[in-house]
Amino acid sequence: MERSIELPKGRAVNGGPADRSGHDIGMDEPRLRVTVEPHGWTFETAPDQSLLQAGLAAGVRLPHSCRNGTCRACITQLRSGEISYRIEWPGLSREEKAEGWILPCVACARSDLVLDAPQATRPAAAPRPTVLTAPKPPVASVDVSPDTLPTTTQK
Ligand code: FES
Repeated sequence: MERSIELPKGRAVNGGPADRSGHDIGMDEPRLRVTVEPHGWTFETAPDQSLLQAGLAAGVRLPHSCRNGTCRACITQLRSGEISYRIEWPGLSREEKAEGWILPCVACARSDLVLDAPQATRPAAAPRPTVLTAPKPPVASVDVSPDTLPTTTQK
């Protein structure tokens, strides 16, 4: 039998903080702030969470495709702060790194960050679907009193 549990908004099954999907984001991890300019949007991230993941969980969509540091679709300018990479060789040249370009799909915050990401979007929350219900069919009323029951004859 399948059971569902109604969780308080922003809480994981273990009662700790959760992302918008209800996934545990860790109770003891420090939260770091990411500001997305020029929009001025902010979201929180944990040191083990990629900036792309954290943004998506908070409703901030940075451009992306491969999510593994190779396609460069997510390339973004880091204005301030420190990051580290989940992979050893993210697809950036030494010069690009020196100029502040990062790949948010494999980058994790090491401090509060400011990104220059004019291409970021924040899709409006999808409207809740309207549930249509058909009118209930009229219930036929049947008189089943002994006076109205058909009589049967025994042969
Ligand atoms: S999404 Fe492909 S490198 Fe980031």
